[in-house]
This record gives sequence, C-alpha cells and structure tokens, in this order.
Amino acid sequence: MRIIQVDNQVEGGRVAFELLKEKLANGAKTLGLATGSSPLEFYKEIRESDVDLSDLVSVNLDEYMGLDGDNDQSYRYFMQKNLFDAKPFKESFLPNGKAANIDEEVVRYNALLAEHPVDLQILGIGTNGHIGFNEPGTPFDSQVHAVELTESTIQANARFFEKIEDVPTQAISMGIKNILSAKSIILFAYGAGKAYAIAGMVDGPMTEELPASSLQSHEDVVIIADKAALSGLKRI
Ligand code: GLP
Repeated sequence: MRIIQVDNQVEGGRVAFELLKEKLANGAKTLGLATGSSPLEFYKEIRESDVDLSDLVSVNLDEYMGLDGDNDQSYRYFMQKNLFDAKPFKESFLPNGKAANIDEEVVRYNALLAEHPVDLQILGIGTNGHIGFNEPGTPFDSQVHAVELTESTIQANARFFEKIEDVPTQAISMGIKNILSAKSIILFAYGAGKAYAIAGMVDGPMTEELPASSLQSHEDVVIIADKAALSGLKRI
C-alpha cells in the first residue's frame, strides 16, 4: 500500500486526478466509482478539466435499496450530479435499487462486472472499515450481494437525509472479491473519524472484521488521506 498524505480534500482530489490521467494515458477503459463525501473533490477536479471520458465505462460500487435513480439520495443521482452530467461516460452502471427481484439484480450486476473489468477503482472507507457496503464480517470471497446496513453505517449516513428513519436499511454492493479484482485502487480518507479504520486497514491483521484490511492482499493500492485520518498509524 502506498500512502500519500495530503493537507486537505482539495489537494487529495488533485493528486488523484494526476493518477487518473496516468491510468488513462496507459489505456484504462473502465473506472470503478464510489459515492460519499471523500471522492467529491476528485470528481470536481475531473468536472473542471478538459478530460474526455466518453470512451470509458463506469461501474459503481453500490446503491441503496428502495430508492430510484431520481431520488436525490440515491447513488445514481449523486453520480449524475457530481460527475456524469458534466462528464458523460460511454456507459455508466450502478445496481438498480428498485429492482423488483433483488436476487436477479445481484446476478445481473455480477455478470456486468465480469464483462467490464475495472482498471481503476475509487474507494472511500466507513468508520468501521467497510468498503462499498461490505460491513464487518463480509467474506473476502464475496461477490455482488444484498446487504443489511449496520446501525453505525445508518447513523453515519443519516446526515444526508432529513431524518434517520429515511435512511434505507439495505443496499446492493460489489463484494470484496469484485473490489480486489480491480487492477488498481485509490482509497480516500479524511478526518479523525477514519483513523481507526485506516490503522486497522494498514497495520492490523487481515481480517473479515475489518473489510478494508483485505486491501493488504492487493498489489496496487494508493491511500490518499489527511493527517487526522493517518493519525492512528505506527508510521507513514
Ligand atoms: C458509505 C458508502 C461508502 C463510503 C462510505 C464513507 O457507506 N457506501 O462507499 O466509502 O460511506 O463515506 P464518506 O466518504 O462520506 O465518509
């Protein structure tokens, strides 16, 4: 794992954008994308650039169940607003949170990921070490699956909703195995709230209790983080 300490999210966004440009120059065709606040400055950097993504495909990590793409809390809406409206891809895929049959949607999204191997996967990290919506206890060999969100994740995400009862309790997420199959990975983490997760991910044992620790087995992971998020590490 390579760790790049940045002063703030704006610098983090710029650093990641430079890495993205390298990948594009080397022929990257499929981007794995994430929602949450951590990649926002990265998306802004892309929006304000002259980079053209119209030949690329994007696949997103996850989506809430029960929200359709027009709902302003859905991850589809988030992606439209923060990236796709300004920089359309050839095709952009997310799980369908309104699918009538969740089992079929899981199979469909898994097949779609197999068709579109990810060159660069963007990740944030939950305070409990989750990646995508893979909560502690998720098997490292998991593929796309339906997820019951933990109380801590529901609470952490409540800030985006009017009231906590509005936060969906289920999601569809890429599994750990899908995430690890990306050729390269950039993970953003900002703030002291992420220090526990980052320390476990980097220095802790590889354990399903801290899903992000699975990234230790990947050979091309770049962590872009501020000092507070790195404060639990033994060394940088
Ligand atoms: C959610 C998302 C994750 C994201 C995490 C952290 O749970 N499903 O993909 O990494 O939140 O979000 P933030 O970047 O806002 O801290």
